Formats: sequence, C-alpha cells, structure tokens
Amino acid sequence: MDALVPVPPSRPAPGAVHLPGWLGLEEQRRLVSACRRWATGPVPLRHTRLPSGGVMSVRTVCLGWHWRPYRYSRTADDVNGHRVAALPEWLAETGRRALADAYGESAETREYVPDTALINFYDAHARMGMHQDKDERSAAPVVSLSIGDSCVFRFGNTESRGRPYTDIELGSGDLFVFGGPSRFAYHGVTKVFPGTGDAATGMASGRLNLTLRVTGLTD
Ligand code: SIN
Ligand code: MN
Repeated sequence: MDALVPVPPSRPAPGAVHLPGWLGLEEQRRLVSACRRWATGPVPLRHTRLPSGGVMSVRTVCLGWHWRPYRYSRTADDVNGHRVAALPEWLAETGRRALADAYGESAETREYVPDTALINFYDAHARMGMHQDKDERSAAPVVSLSIGDSCVFRFGNTESRGRPYTDIELGSGDLFVFGGPSRFAYHGVTKVFPGTGDAATGMASGRLNLTLRVTGLTD
C-alpha cells in the first residue's frame, strides 16, 4: 500500500516495539517464496483444529517445532504425523537482526536464536482472537514479521483480553517485537484490509505473518 502518511516507529508498551517497513521488498519476496514452499509440506498449510471443535480462520504452517493448541512437538500429529521442516539459519539470523534493531545490540540480542516459526496466512475474513503466546518454556522475545495486506493488530496487557490495549496498523514489511514486560501480553488481529498489499511482494492477496520464537524445548 502507498501510505500517504508513513507510520512512525512506536513503542506501544514497555518491551514492545513496532518498526514499520523493516523488511525491504527483496526480503519480503524471499520470505513469500520460501513460505510458498513450506506451505506444500512436509506438513501442509492448514486450519488448526481447536479443542472446542472449531477451526482457526488463519491457515498455519510451522518450522522447527510444530505448534498445536497448546503445545509444541517435532511431528505434526494432528495433521499428517510428519516432522516439520527445519527453521533455516538465514531466518534465525533475520530474527536476531530484527531483535537487535528493535532493542539495540546487547548480549540478549546477540544470543537470540529462535527455534520455531509459526507462519500464518490470513485471507480477507481471517482474524485471530486475543491470546497470549505462552506455550514456550522460554521468556525470550517474539519477533513478528508481516507481509501483504495491512491489518489491525491489537496489542493489550498481560492481565486480561480487555482494555487497556493499543490498535496498531501492521503493514507489509513491518516488524513487531514483544519481549520483557510485554512478552506475555494478550494480542490478536481484529481486521485485515483486503487489497492493501503490493503484488510486487509476491502476495497477490491476503496477509502473511511469521512469528519467530524460542521454545526452550529440547528433543
Ligand atoms: C500471532 O499472534 O501468532 C500472530 C499475530 C499476527 O498475525 O500479527
Ligand atoms: Mn500470538
């Protein structure tokens, strides 16, 4: 989207940093084509089934560790039993660089090695309800990268799904990091704006979001 008024970087809460347009077009294209490959297998992109019997409106594929409500495993036992694809070194390095740009260079950012990526695809109607990322055994920050259509990302507090929260527009190439006092803040996606992405990224429609995380798990 050609933003007439560029969105400035912001810190909506302590430990939460939004850097708009952090990924250049080439990096976005590389991620889109890699995600297309990962979407085909060994574990295909699919709607995650919830214990309630419903399904999530986003479609997801994972790298490194497979997430399902509410745990991680190496194999996707709720899909086809296959081991998920490895998280490539270049993507972990993108996560490390993202953290350093959001927080500044420090021992924490130098040593950040995400071992899982949850890749979510949103069509025009997909949403994500307010939730905490709390199935990891590590409190290391979450790095979120968005490509394609813009959305409203609701970033809340650590106590409840309700107020106070901040609604942030996440556009293509945006980086959002939440760690420290914000690591377990509730967050969700309330709306996607169809047709706001740039086809030059390789995304003709919809929104792609990758979250890089440290699970703290070992085999
Ligand atoms: C997530 O909470 O896992 C995804 C957030 C997003 O799509 O921006
Ligand atoms: Mn989340």
